[in-house]
Amino acid sequence: MAPSAAVASRVESLASSGIASIPKEYVRPQEELINIVNVFEDEKKTDEGPQIPTVDLKGLNSEDPAEREKCREELKKASMDWGVMHLVNHGIPDDLIDQVKAAGKIFFDLPIEEKEKHANDQASGKIAGYGSKLANNASGQLEWQDYFFHLIYPEDKRDLSIWPKTPADYTEVTSEYARQLRGLATRVFSALSLGLGVEEGRLEKEVGGLEELLLQMKINYYPKCPQPELALGVEAHTDVSSLTFILHNMVPGLQAFYDGNWVTAKCVPNSIIMHVGDTIEILSNGKYKSILHRGLVNKEKIRISWAVFCEPPKEKIILKPLPELVTETEPARYPPRTFAQHIQHKLFRKSQEALLSK
Ligand SMILES: [Fe+2]
Repeated sequence: MAPSAAVASRVESLASSGIASIPKEYVRPQEELINIVNVFEDEKKTDEGPQIPTVDLKGLNSEDPAEREKCREELKKASMDWGVMHLVNHGIPDDLIDQVKAAGKIFFDLPIEEKEKHANDQASGKIAGYGSKLANNASGQLEWQDYFFHLIYPEDKRDLSIWPKTPADYTEVTSEYARQLRGLATRVFSALSLGLGVEEGRLEKEVGGLEELLLQMKINYYPKCPQPELALGVEAHTDVSSLTFILHNMVPGLQAFYDGNWVTAKCVPNSIIMHVGDTIEILSNGKYKSILHRGLVNKEKIRISWAVFCEPPKEKIILKPLPELVTETEPARYPPRTFAQHIQHKLFRKSQEALLSK
């Protein structure tokens, strides 16, 4: 591909150009179009079958062992059944979360030319910064979204030079959020380890511990879409991470594929959405689920979400089911792979599927 062809166009410019119909690269294939719904109507429905569970983490630090046990059981159950949940009483102050969201919004409210100063360069492998998806297969399929991507923890691995300078408190509030989220990840890893009957620190150690587990933040910006029934903000995928934590601006969009249906996530005040990613599914030998999910767009409101992917180092660790969980009756369901190999394997499988569907 010629270098000029690799420059992604911004969905925000497209959205603000006043077009009534979207370019064909954004139109999903027929098999996806049949179940794309109006996300506002879908979010409002009340008695429509299974819903993404809400897990109250208040009991996790309780003095009472029975309370702690009860809370861990709830987290375990949601992780085994759904692999995605709304966490409430997660311990991260609401005002800090509001500041993180305000900072990200101020950055995205800047003119595109300002944001372009932080543009990434995917062709040369610099994925951190402001960007939009490049078509990665022959179909040229694109997603209705721009984003800002950067590593936020551990602090010594950050590249602050690419972080937004506007607003002035961006680095401070995002760094504090990263520290607090890292603590929450530890509490969740501990509970999920105990849920598997292994030592409390085990999962955290297996994904790299405090030094090696990387927290990557992706702020997703979904402009209003003139034909939301034809597009997706994010196509269906499972997260490769160990855990993913998501904040959003209370505009619905996330859907999880459960029991053969797309279930729209409700907007739960003061919650953090958490996904169990492929890495934990592999380590748990499939006991904890990495659920298929996607993002819808709409024509009325801009949606912004802040996803933090907790990723093991790409090459240093071989991911495979914990030996204690592998038995004659429950053999290992995943071959040993590094995180990089796992990502490669998924890309390969996806390109094979794309070829087969032609
Ligand atoms: Fe995801």
